[in-house]
Amino acid sequence: MDENETRRKLADFVMRTEFFSMGEECKKYEEAFAKKQERKFAVFVNSGSSANLILVQALLNLGKLKRGDKVGVSAITWSTNVMPLLQLGLVPVAIDCEKESLNVSSSKLEPYLKEIRGLFLTNALGFCHDIKEIRSLCEEREIVFLEDNCESLGSKAYGRLLGNFGLASTFSFFLGHHLSTLEGGMVCTDDEELYHMLLKVRAHGWGRNLPKEKLEALHKEHGTDPFYALYSFFDLGYNVRPTEINGFLGNLQIQYWDEVVASREKNFKFFNKKKKENNDLLALSVDHMDTVSAFAMPIICKDKTTFESYKNKFTENGVEIRPIVSGDITSQPFYKKYINSHGDCPNARFVHQNGFYFGNTSELNEGELGILYSLI
Ligand SMILES: Cc1ncc(COP(=O)(O)O)c(C=O)c1O
Repeated sequence: MDENETRRKLADFVMRTEFFSMGEECKKYEEAFAKKQERKFAVFVNSGSSANLILVQALLNLGKLKRGDKVGVSAITWSTNVMPLLQLGLVPVAIDCEKESLNVSSSKLEPYLKEIRGLFLTNALGFCHDIKEIRSLCEEREIVFLEDNCESLGSKAYGRLLGNFGLASTFSFFLGHHLSTLEGGMVCTDDEELYHMLLKVRAHGWGRNLPKEKLEALHKEHGTDPFYALYSFFDLGYNVRPTEINGFLGNLQIQYWDEVVASREKNFKFFNKKKKENNDLLALSVDHMDTVSAFAMPIICKDKTTFESYKNKFTENGVEIRPIVSGDITSQPFYKKYINSHGDCPNARFVHQNGFYFGNTSELNEGELGILYSLI
């Protein structure tokens, strides 16, 4: 948002700061983000993918998930939602989506409830299905419920922000997402124990970023000699810290949160109204949502011929379009390589084969909106 001004402020920051590695700017951004997201804790990292990775590692470190556990994932998701599960010895189980919401519903989840220990749901493209019911089912069965909210910042359903239904949620600040720090990601939770573990996992497995009393207690527990305190490593971790440049950008961009969400929602409503009147396209059902902070505008065609014709129409008019995220994740080469029984997700396959999306940003101008509207 406000690119020229942001560049000028960044240049000034770079000239005057004495500190580039993770510090006060990152901390300030975490606090501001947790407040806007209405969560107690936020941990800033260098990408949404890293947010997913440290979240899964932290849950393993805490014993809330165990190697070999099955974890449900949305069939329409992003590669690095599923990959950390595979990398860390868990078993992803793809759950099909509903065509009208592009998201997993409680009825699609139901058959898997007995086998999964965790559910890492993706709130795809700013939408959700009956996520309140999904949360209750997970609570009843003591399934660890996590949300990959990288595409749905600001969306709300059943009176609650998406990202606040599960134990923890992740966000991405890559270009094209609602807020951008160039590269960046966040994990949010209200669980203090998980928060403390995430702080360790984010940086080397050490305790330096923990609150003072917590760190002192750990040193006491392990009888650390003070000389070795700075190089004491308590659990499995990585180094996925952001820089102060990302933190500084986050603090500038977060001021636009409300504006970004409002304009993404306004654009979505504008396009969706037209889309509903078009019989070539499948209608989206969002009546259960309070706010649709759409990441992008999905166009799901009724069949392959219609898909080809709309794809050409958009491309010929110079509009950049993309497949619906990773499409049907079970059809991706990595998934086939590493997962033997890759279930059947017919709705995700349909969306994969007959759908695409075009970008929705808060800075689309009248002319661009007009062209896009004419193509639907
Ligand atoms: C659902 C989802 N999860 C995770 C990611 C990864 O985020 P990043 O690109 O910041 O690593 C993305 C990226 O677009 C995404 O859409």
